[in-house]
Parts: sequence; C-alpha cells; structure tokens
Amino acid sequence: MILHIPDVLTPDQTAEARALLLSAEWIDGKVTAGFQSAQAKDNMQLPVQHPVALQVGDMILKALYANPLFVSAALPLQILPPMFNRYSIGQQFKTHVDNAIRSVPGTGHRIRTDLSCTLFFEEPDDYDGGELVIEDTYGAKSVKLPAGHLVLYPSTSLHHVTPIMRGSRLCSFFWLQSLIRSDEQRSILFDLDLAIQRLGRDLPTQPSAAQSSIQLTGVYHNLLRQWAEM
Ligand code: NI
Repeated sequence: MILHIPDVLTPDQTAEARALLLSAEWIDGKVTAGFQSAQAKDNMQLPVQHPVALQVGDMILKALYANPLFVSAALPLQILPPMFNRYSIGQQFKTHVDNAIRSVPGTGHRIRTDLSCTLFFEEPDDYDGGELVIEDTYGAKSVKLPAGHLVLYPSTSLHHVTPIMRGSRLCSFFWLQSLIRSDEQRSILFDLDLAIQRLGRDLPTQPSAAQSSIQLTGVYHNLLRQWAEM
C-alpha cells in the first residue's frame, strides 16, 4: 500500500524545520549508502547526529505518533530517527531497494525496515523533477507532495528520485518496523479500522450499529493479536 498522509506538520512547523535545515552544513549522501546504492545515489545529506537533524527529527516523530491515520496505516513498532536529504539541479537517486535491516544509531539494536517514509519540505511548484517514483505491483507511481505531507510505502518496493531540473528538493526520509510484517495483513487491518470508524460516524445512534461496531473492534484486536510481532 502506498499512502499519502496530509498535513503531518503544520505550515508553521514546516517553515521552521525548513529554515533550520537550510542553515545546516550538508555532506555527500554516499556516506550512508551501501555499495550498490552508492552507484545510484547523488544527493546531500545531514549527518545523523547533527543537532538540527535531531531537533527536526523529534518534531516529526511527535507529530507522527499523534497522527491517527499514520498510526492506523503503519502500526509502528519502532521508527528510526528521521534522516534528511537535499537534491540540487542535476542530482538524482537511481532505482534501488532500501536495506532490509538497519541499526538504530547509538544503540546495538537493529530493526527490520517494513515501511519507508518520505516527508516533503518544499512546495511542488518550487522545483522541477525530484519525483519519488515507487514501483508497485500495479505499476510505477510518481509522488511529489505539498510541504508538510508524507508518503508511506512498503520498503520492499524498488524506487528512485528523478533528476532535479530547477530549484532543489528537501525531504526527510526514514524507516520503521511495523507490528505487522506483511503488507497485505497490514492493509486488511487498516481497511477494517477505517470501516469501524466510519460506522461510528455514520450511524452513531443506532443500537445495532453500535453492537456491530463493538464486534468488529473485537475482530480487529483479535487479528492484531494473531499477527503482531514484537
Ligand atoms: Ni531508498
């Protein structure tokens, strides 16, 4: 499932984060790439422990944990600290797949990357190129979202970032391990959760709807109990 999550950050938060990020010193993005992706990758990155990366990363994680759509769709077990990249004219990231296992910086702990996230900091009209193209089972999907919005997609997908033709692209990217490893099972839980919420909204006073809602909520939690890995 590829999901657009709007307004993860408010316009004020987005502007503050963007200003902080643009004032920082950036390094060559190849430093965090594996051998194969180093051939494909041409961008700039903020060092993981950079104070600005930590500050803006914290802002993003707080916003995400408070975002019901994100939590329902991702069912996060652990989110890696957000990283940041910038592409200037001519830069791109050719087709690659992200590493399956990543270390949590500063700990000996490792997580499995089930879902990838990209959060945009520039408005789409302010640069040309820089689309995130994700290859899904239904074909390729091109993603370029308004500032403050995020795309969530399976880390199993091949993907690339098209060359910048004008302006620059500023994004945060990060991975998470989900309670639910399987994209199919996670999609089923997400659909069920949305349907239960809609039932509560549309038929708030009907006793039979309330009973169905309780029963379906039970089904949701029992499926989660069957499938969750911690
Ligand atoms: Ni990638």
